[in-house]
Amino acid sequence: MPALDTSIVVGVVGAGAMGAGIAQVAAQAGHPVRLYDTRDGAAEAGIAGIRKQLEKRVAKGKLTQEAVEAVIERLAPVTGLDDFAGCGLVVEAIVEKLEVKRELFGRLEAICGEAAILASNTSSLSITSIAANLERPERLAGLHFFNPAPVMKLVEIVSGLATEPTVAETLYATAAAWGKTPVHASSTPGFIVNRVARPFYAEGLRLLQEGAADAATLDALLRQAGGFRMGPFELMDLIGHDVNYAVTRSVFDAYYGDTRFEPSLVQLALVEAGRLGRKSGQGFYDYREGAEKPVP
Ligand code: NAI
Repeated sequence: MPALDTSIVVGVVGAGAMGAGIAQVAAQAGHPVRLYDTRDGAAEAGIAGIRKQLEKRVAKGKLTQEAVEAVIERLAPVTGLDDFAGCGLVVEAIVEKLEVKRELFGRLEAICGEAAILASNTSSLSITSIAANLERPERLAGLHFFNPAPVMKLVEIVSGLATEPTVAETLYATAAAWGKTPVHASSTPGFIVNRVARPFYAEGLRLLQEGAADAATLDALLRQAGGFRMGPFELMDLIGHDVNYAVTRSVFDAYYGDTRFEPSLVQLALVEAGRLGRKSGQGFYDYREGAEKPVP
């Protein structure tokens, strides 16, 4: 299957870390992009954040100011889902809750044209289940980017039970055309990467809870001796504890409470405290202005 033509308008729902990143990737590939979020001003803030990222590359001589303006011009914040009527692809990157995603796709199905592909950036929820109530579940698939989306190459193309193979193939070709490295996966809990990554976080959290060492020491060890790009605590802070905890819960529930995937009370406490990681200014580490940086 060929990739989606760059004249096709891409809609992105959710302008948080992932939605803004996906909007950037699509706009950089040449698509007109519409970005929507229920939070007032979030889409505009997402686009402002993209500009800031791109301008850092201009300062480093890696991008021209004209290229930045061309990308920004292709990005439009919109105020309602009705603005997605003309989109050929809509990617959802909202809160990791099954019912909310199902409700959203039900509304999108009624708004988008027959040929439009609907895609979810869910980290762990069943694509089969997200699509189940749609009139045409065959046109929905997972398009799972990694954080930060403009940087990370891997994209999981996730097929649910009803996903039409041509839909998955079109998304595969499109992700490749966007400069990504796509991989096909079927809709098992957590798909490939988030399934394999669960023990990385869980064992780190157990070590911390047992007092083996502090978070900064464990992160440094796994980076330096383990060869990981990031340790589990700094990575959870980047992902966001609300998102990471929801993903662990969803994988744990989907495997009928298999204790290998048991969510951590340490992480739950961070979620309850609103210490969601980088995005809230505090998590395992303190990112607020003037905060002391950890030693290792
Ligand atoms: P986030 O919390 O940064 O952003 C979510 C955004 O969605 C917020 O701006 C919120 O206002 C908006 N939103 C919530 N409900 C909405 C609705 N019904 N309609 C429109 N907008 C709505 O979350 P993040 O990290 O961007 O995650 C979004 C999705 O991407 C989740 O499904 C998550 O599992 C997945 N994901 C997250 C990754 C990460 O590292 N954070 C990596 C890959 C996937």
